[in-house]
Amino acid sequence: MARLAVNVDHVATLRQARGIREPDPVIAAGIAELAGAEGIICHLREDRRHIHDRDLRLLRETVKTKLNLEMAAVPEMVRIAKATKPDLVTLVPEKREELTTEGGLDVKSKHEHYRKVVRQLKEKGIHVSLFIDPDPKQIEIAHRIGADVVEIHTGHYAEASTEAEILKQFDRIAKASDKAHELELGLSVGHGLNYVNIHRFKGLTKIEEYSIGHSIVCRAVYVGLEQAVREMITLLREF
Ligand code: PXP
Repeated sequence: MARLAVNVDHVATLRQARGIREPDPVIAAGIAELAGAEGIICHLREDRRHIHDRDLRLLRETVKTKLNLEMAAVPEMVRIAKATKPDLVTLVPEKREELTTEGGLDVKSKHEHYRKVVRQLKEKGIHVSLFIDPDPKQIEIAHRIGADVVEIHTGHYAEASTEAEILKQFDRIAKASDKAHELELGLSVGHGLNYVNIHRFKGLTKIEEYSIGHSIVCRAVYVGLEQAVREMITLLREF
């Protein structure tokens, strides 16, 4: 069965709406793990808009499954990752003005830069994932520069509104998954996945991990975090 890794950034976003101490993404991570999540993800952005350094520090101390730190491939973040030693770092593109991560990394045109960052992290024993669009060429380069895992960006699929566009975007993900599998890369998917659009992934057995945040935190408002996590895991069990 594919693993569910829960992104707790949106819990921190709610906390930052008031600038106080709750809700706490660290407590949310513990509840998600108790409900069966097999990984916790947080994105330490350069502008610290949601997850803060304190959250990362405490998550490193308390997460019992696997901590995945999403970050930009910049010197400040590399330094923090090397000091914190998450189980996995996922390199993502980051723009200050975006609401959320908008697309995959362009490893094709900046491969020397990413090769260097991947090497620096791996030297510290940290596994590295690259968040990339479902493009076989990008996946090939990710493999060539030493990534352990690729996370395929599912945002375009999630945003597609016509059946033809949904099919087209899903087909890109399926082909990219085949490519990653062929290259023996670890394979995860994420961005914009929810309790409805996830159904189409049934049968894509090469995917090892689903990285989901927003839809789980939204559902948690109505049914509680533990149940929201359990419901997503129930869906993944059918895959
Ligand atoms: N994977 C990556 C690389 C992301 O940046 C995000 C969003 O923080 C996610 C997965 C999770 O996306 P969502 O919150 O839409 O489930």
